[in-house]
Amino acid sequence: MKIADFYNYKKGSQKISMVTAYDYTTAKIADDSNIDCVLVGDSLSMVIYGKRSTLWASTMVMAMHTSAVAAAVKGKLVIADMPFLSFRKGPTQAMNCVEKLVKAGAQAIKLEGIDGHKDVIERIVKSDIPVMGHLGLTPQSIRRFGGYKIQGKDKNSAQKILKQTKSLEHCGCFAIVLECIPQDLAKKITHSVKIPTIGIGAGPHTDGQVLVFHDLLGMYPQSPSFAKKYLDGYGLIKNALDDFDRDIKRGNYP
Ligand code: KIV
Repeated sequence: MKIADFYNYKKGSQKISMVTAYDYTTAKIADDSNIDCVLVGDSLSMVIYGKRSTLWASTMVMAMHTSAVAAAVKGKLVIADMPFLSFRKGPTQAMNCVEKLVKAGAQAIKLEGIDGHKDVIERIVKSDIPVMGHLGLTPQSIRRFGGYKIQGKDKNSAQKILKQTKSLEHCGCFAIVLECIPQDLAKKITHSVKIPTIGIGAGPHTDGQVLVFHDLLGMYPQSPSFAKKYLDGYGLIKNALDDFDRDIKRGNYP
């Protein structure tokens, strides 16, 4: 999938699928699958490093994981998250982060929000680096939200998210992640913009869906309730380890 395909998919009412990946081995599986695009999300702070939020991720960590993913993904778009505060310390620092992610192998970057860093988004777009927006429950704003709560439930905050989506489209973003907002709002936003919306916990009416790899495969014990588990990865892997342990102790391996 190329950047232009995002518009084409929406125009042709074809849904977009996206999954996160953080390392070579799992990115290779994603690359060999039918999934459309791969996100090196800052959710790695939680599912890979066991932190309580995404705030821990740094540009260096994101670049290292982007490099591992890009080594495996040959036929799909690799999008990398700009981590916490990396786009809030002025344009030079933001562009330094973009440079590191792109040189590590990202073909596009994703960043959260718009208020206070619209100029940075425009600068990245004008530098010919495709930008994916991210609105709603933006995990880097967890301190303000006070928890992982649905956003846009009242009229004012719903209006704000709609307005922000239109501004991101105007800035030149090629797609927007809508996280944990009411499905009616996600539907309204999706119909109000020409660029595709990619939902997570935002109902069925967005132009695409994204899930965290470890949630999708049932490997992360603290998965959000909206995330459908397509595998009992935790149980299957644990059973395999127990089988290995049993074989060793019974003398059946090697
Ligand atoms: O970091 C991440 O994995 C994300 C997705 C949940 C959209 O931003």
